[in-house]
Amino acid sequence: MLLGWCGKMNKDFWHGKSVLITGNTGFKGSWMSQILLSSGADVHGYALENNDNDSIFNAIELDKNMDCNYGDICDEEKLAGLIERIKPEIVFHLAAQPIVRLSYVEPIYTYKTNVIGTAVLLNCLRKCDKLRSVVNITTDKVYENGNNDAFFSEKDKLGGYDPYASSKACSEIVTSSFMRSFFDPQKFGVTHSTAIATARAGNVIGGGDVSPDRIIPDCIRAVKNKSSVTLRNPMSIRPWQNVLEPLSLYITLAEKLYDYGVKYNGAYNVGPSLSDCLTVVEIVKLMKSYIPELEYNVSDNAVKEEPHEDAVLTLNTGKIYQLLDFSNKWDINDAVKNTALWYKAQMNGEDMKDVTEKMIQDYFTKDR
Ligand SMILES: NC(=O)c1ccc[n+]([C@@H]2O[C@H](COP(=O)([O-])OP(=O)(O)OC[C@H]3O[C@@H](n4cnc5c(N)ncnc54)[C@H](O)[C@@H]3O)[C@@H](O)[C@H]2O)c1
Repeated sequence: MLLGWCGKMNKDFWHGKSVLITGNTGFKGSWMSQILLSSGADVHGYALENNDNDSIFNAIELDKNMDCNYGDICDEEKLAGLIERIKPEIVFHLAAQPIVRLSYVEPIYTYKTNVIGTAVLLNCLRKCDKLRSVVNITTDKVYENGNNDAFFSEKDKLGGYDPYASSKACSEIVTSSFMRSFFDPQKFGVTHSTAIATARAGNVIGGGDVSPDRIIPDCIRAVKNKSSVTLRNPMSIRPWQNVLEPLSLYITLAEKLYDYGVKYNGAYNVGPSLSDCLTVVEIVKLMKSYIPELEYNVSDNAVKEEPHEDAVLTLNTGKIYQLLDFSNKWDINDAVKNTALWYKAQMNGEDMKDVTEKMIQDYFTKDR
């Protein structure tokens, strides 16, 4: 299936463009790869191998359908060789160690991957003449969060309590430094043609996420094991979105950077409307309305033993929605419903490439 479905997506723009997606074997990177493959782009990936058969990457057999390249994001020689070969015009940087709890166990690996990895990629991209757009995907956790119902805008102070959050704040600082030092907006069109943005998205849900310590994958594992999922932070509020929402925004942002250059440089918050910011227990109840077999419990001890995670995280997303003239398509109910549909189809043994392409088609052909 190609092109016909793209609807509101700018298929003429993407057709034949050389695109590099780092982290293409992961949850968001796999959905991003499938969207851009379906729109006719020449998609190349760079990431670690993924051996989990339940992941979207393997469920839709992306390794057979795109140029997959395997290596560490800090391996400058390998990454430089790939970039020299494929000469990307557009880069989406998603490769990361993205799990807060793992960042407490492996802080140095988290900083290496998320901070040095970003610097290595941007350094390799300096030699890339054809490069026009770079979108670095960070997180809403990059802000210094006092848990006081803050409503963060892009001008707020960067920080981060845990190693994951602070590594992503560092990735923002590295990106800003490379942009000013090597892709100077004042020299755009003279010494280089590259525009750069960072996107700070919140919690994303969708089919084929197999990460540890994320609530929806934990729920699905419990359903498959016929067990009950323990909610660690039931009252934590998060800005949930279906994965297709931020991805379509990253895609639109990359188009703007490509077409209008450094006018769109900068950092952008990405998230749902405030009414879609639910607690963990609310999102699980909504999931249960689509998958009744889902059982959950709250353990007081489990909550007390947890490492710190910010309880409240809400974003002011006015900038990107105004600048890109963008609005979300799927509210929280659509987000959960489509997530549940994907996992149910997988549990029923359906052809997941078809299911995934159909979901992408439904999303992109819906009016905003
Ligand atoms: N999923 C969310 O809710 C969410 C929310 C906000 C931001 N993000 C960000 O989005 C991006 C993608 O997240 P995801 O949920 O798809 O994560 P994921 O864990 O599913 O995928 C991570 C990807 O990065 C790759 N990777 C990890 N370490 C690497 C290394 N050392 N070298 C090369 N590649 C490496 C993995 O192979 C994989 O392809 C991350 O930057 C994450 O911080 C995710």
